Amino acid sequence: MPNKPVEVERRGAVAIVTIDNPPVNALGLAVRRRLMELAEELEADGSVTAVVLTGAGTIFVGGADITEFDRPPEEPHLPDVLARIEASRKPWIAAVNGLSLGGGTELPLACHYRVASPKARFGLPEINIGIIPGSGATQRLPRLIGLAAALPVIAENAQIEARRAVELGLIARVVEGDFLAGAVAFAASVADQPLPTPTGALPVSDPGEAFWTEAAARIGKAAKGAKAPLAALEAVRTGVERGAREGFALERQTFLQLRASEEAAALRYLFFAERSASRPPAVRGIEPRRVAKAGVVGGGTMGVGIAATLLNAGLEVVLSERDGPSLERGLKALEAVFANQAKRKMHSEEEGRARMARMNGIVGLDGLAGCDLVIEAVFEDLALKRDVFATLAKVCRADAILATNTSYIDPKNIAEELPGPTRFIGLHFFSPAQVMKLLEIIPLPQTAADVVATGFELAKRLAKVPVRSGICEGFIGNRILKRYRTEAEKMVLEGVDFAAIDAALRYFGYAMGPFEMQDLAGLDISFLNREAARARGEHVPETMGDILVRAGRKGQKTDGGWYDYMPGGRTAQPSAEVARLLSPMRAAPKTAEPEEIIARLLNAMADEGRKILEEGIADSSEAIDLVEVHGYGFPRIRGGPMFLSARKAGQQ
Ligand code: NAI
Repeated sequence: MPNKPVEVERRGAVAIVTIDNPPVNALGLAVRRRLMELAEELEADGSVTAVVLTGAGTIFVGGADITEFDRPPEEPHLPDVLARIEASRKPWIAAVNGLSLGGGTELPLACHYRVASPKARFGLPEINIGIIPGSGATQRLPRLIGLAAALPVIAENAQIEARRAVELGLIARVVEGDFLAGAVAFAASVADQPLPTPTGALPVSDPGEAFWTEAAARIGKAAKGAKAPLAALEAVRTGVERGAREGFALERQTFLQLRASEEAAALRYLFFAERSASRPPAVRGIEPRRVAKAGVVGGGTMGVGIAATLLNAGLEVVLSERDGPSLERGLKALEAVFANQAKRKMHSEEEGRARMARMNGIVGLDGLAGCDLVIEAVFEDLALKRDVFATLAKVCRADAILATNTSYIDPKNIAEELPGPTRFIGLHFFSPAQVMKLLEIIPLPQTAADVVATGFELAKRLAKVPVRSGICEGFIGNRILKRYRTEAEKMVLEGVDFAAIDAALRYFGYAMGPFEMQDLAGLDISFLNREAARARGEHVPETMGDILVRAGRKGQKTDGGWYDYMPGGRTAQPSAEVARLLSPMRAAPKTAEPEEIIARLLNAMADEGRKILEEGIADSSEAIDLVEVHGYGFPRIRGGPMFLSARKAGQQ
């Protein structure tokens, strides 16, 4: 019966149990219930000698049903189902037909044998949603494959492919050819053998203090403040030091505690937000245009990063610059990106060279004729951008998509006199573009639907998180950034020490606070923007930044901005000069608790976010939080300003 989440069929004396719960065969309540019943029924059925457990389709089991996590757990709990299978007197053979994640990896560990298809892959991504495995993996996996191989899977997001799984003893064999027939044959061959020792009862030796210290340092560093990875390590360690019984107990207790935590709620929220981001309802069912060859105009900071991103995703790229020396500089910078990626083991040096080879650097725009998409990243100057697009409109095919990476200029103004504006769109990348995951997609009123769909499709290929933004100054992200900075500066004017503000935000989980950030990025660009606006006759009040830049303090590059730096150094020191320069503008010094500082800045961000929503600039609160997390370093474990604001409102 097709609507049962678990099917049973017979091949001789072997029963085949298939989990068929689309889309990912999650171990939801109905599946757990049925598995529990089947464990009893098949045990009692004298004509069955062995059970093959597999998944329908290309996935074995994608994990728990995360939508259940907002409610208390319902029986039967997964550990009980696994314990029942493990206690069966007939062998259960997990036949892992594809990807197996979370509970999908824990289930085979409780079976008596495991075989897998060549495409199988085992992982335990629980830490990504703020929890640890809750059904025995922290105990069974180290006992089966050893601690050194198990820890990276349990606490560091590593996955194990089928062939490696054989080497490690995670599975008995890889079944080539007819998978189910091979699994059934294997089951028949072990049906009359004595059952092996349950994985949870296998011996494991304690590698000693140095191993644990090194593992804790490594895992803790990668965790970036998240609790789950070190908690997973603790469960493993307890099982090794005090035996599986205590290990299982601590694992379950930790799982339940973390499952109910704010951190896990935030990470679950982002998990769902990210999953739906790449296929928003507005572009569903619309065929995107084909993009194989992309052009990038401007080989500066952004152009180089964008070109690297496109090349990393396998596209052919043409990078255009205005003259030979600029092109050479851009190409050098691009080479440096690949060399750095190779150093970080993201690919081999040879692969870096292969990517460079898919790149063609040109001077001028004529060489962009064959591109399916051209992304403009020249200076932030309206007249220049208009010029570039006027030429591109002549040079490129009529169906080629033309995109601007502008940060602040209204794309409608850029496209004003452009023939065929339906193919024009904003694609706003973030610096460094090869690292930052956010891509703001900014359609104009006249942009064709399939051009928008292509933007989202491209984001997916580039492994970016796309967010549609309407048109306003700074789009979603920079508009909120401006409000955040303004609020931070307001506090400084009220007498709060800016170093205290930076410290509070680091404590909250940002890599740095707003003033350190300005010193790193340079204060001069926004100063020049303000000066340009003043020159146009706009009223732009004097800011503290203006005073600092006029005193020659542009940030780290001048060894001084909000803070002092040793020549060429990056360590921020309080500056007596800054205190003196700014004191006429500031109220008497006053202290503020970190919580107060954080609350004020979060409130300002959420308030701006609500306005952005009301104006239809963003489609949802989730979209705004994705912008903050993926473009502006908002700590992931906190969910986002909109998430936090809604939680706070819910608690009142
Ligand atoms: P940049 O100054 O580093 O690079 C601009 C490049 O464009 C220069 O290499 C220049 O030689 C080249 N260029 C100028 N005119 C050209 C022409 N006619 N043909 C070909 N190349 C030409 O500037 P950056 O920072 O890369 O910014 C580029 C655009 O991206 C701007 O619109 C900026 O607002 C936007 N943006 C910048 C971000 C950042 O963090 N720097 C973030 C997101 C967007």
